[in-house]
Amino acid sequence: MSIADIIPAYRDEINKGLSNIYPYGPDSLTKPVAYVLQGGGKRLRPLLTIFSAEACGGIKKDVFSAALAVEVLHNFTLVHDDIMDQDSIRHGQHTVHHKWDDGVAILTGDAMLSLALGLLNQTPAVSHLQMKIFIDGLLAVCEGQALDKEFETQSSVSLDEYIQMIDLKTGHLIGLAAELGAISTGVESHICEKVRDYGRLVGRAFQIQDDYLEIFSNSSNMGKSLESDIVLGKKTFLMIKALEKNSGVIIKALEIARVDFEKGIGIIRDYLENEGIKNSAQKEIDEILKLADEKLNDLPIDKEKLLYFSKLIKKRGN
Ligand code: IPE
Ligand code: IPE
Ligand code: MG
Ligand code: MG
Repeated sequence: MSIADIIPAYRDEINKGLSNIYPYGPDSLTKPVAYVLQGGGKRLRPLLTIFSAEACGGIKKDVFSAALAVEVLHNFTLVHDDIMDQDSIRHGQHTVHHKWDDGVAILTGDAMLSLALGLLNQTPAVSHLQMKIFIDGLLAVCEGQALDKEFETQSSVSLDEYIQMIDLKTGHLIGLAAELGAISTGVESHICEKVRDYGRLVGRAFQIQDDYLEIFSNSSNMGKSLESDIVLGKKTFLMIKALEKNSGVIIKALEIARVDFEKGIGIIRDYLENEGIKNSAQKEIDEILKLADEKLNDLPIDKEKLLYFSKLIKKRGN
């Protein structure tokens, strides 16, 4: 089977694995948990855990519940993120706090964190190191999310501060997805660290690309509501570059967008395109993905699936 054929087969297995992880409990909790986990998603992180294990000589069965754990953890962060970002659509359906309310969404996220830890604990021969990586990754996401919120009201955020924030909120989780797979095979720690660094860089590129698509794609392609970055004043790669260049134009366009979204975003799109900022974001994404692949240079592993994975991420923007 080619890697392109393996991916849908693995996705099906992951979806099946997620379909019934919390069958018994109060309806007000089991229902939203099932709603989130059956709601779809690209399943990129569990795919990466499995691919990393396979690259390092391991087999899917041994990392499967760790892979599910990462996906449940990720989805927990999305449920809470959607409250924080006041978003109404995710995976083409209402977010949990919209369909139910904030209380249900908070508790759903909390329960999913417990379910994620339970799945990790079920992984055959799970080590203290894997537990530590998972727990550290969780705190990193919280720190990244804290910075993301802090930056909303900061008029000036540097590119370095932005990179630090996205590495925490997105890079660490994708890095831990990769690292857990490598560790499960017992390969030397320097290899696991390189595989982790590969994942972190893929995560960095992925977040810049996601912010980019939030402006240049549309809600039905992305399956999520896209106004929040603009309405809340999120600091993204594009917006930081634009604010550095001419904060007057951007601040005015943001004000227009808060009243008439289509008009404001149109001005922002034109500006980003005409000033070459759109292009520089695309270049940045490609360069980071190249750096990610270079982390795997000279490692005594079978890199094919990991290199395919970064190509998959790159393709998402095209
Ligand atoms: C969304 O991640 C959150 C970001 C890090 C941008 P994904 O785009 O991977 O979300 P799903 O898993 O497909 O829902
Ligand atoms: C995603 O951040 C990162 C986490 C959920 C931790 P965003 O807020 O940028 O992602 P979307 O756009 O809601 O998917
Ligand atoms: Mg957010
Ligand atoms: Mg969000």
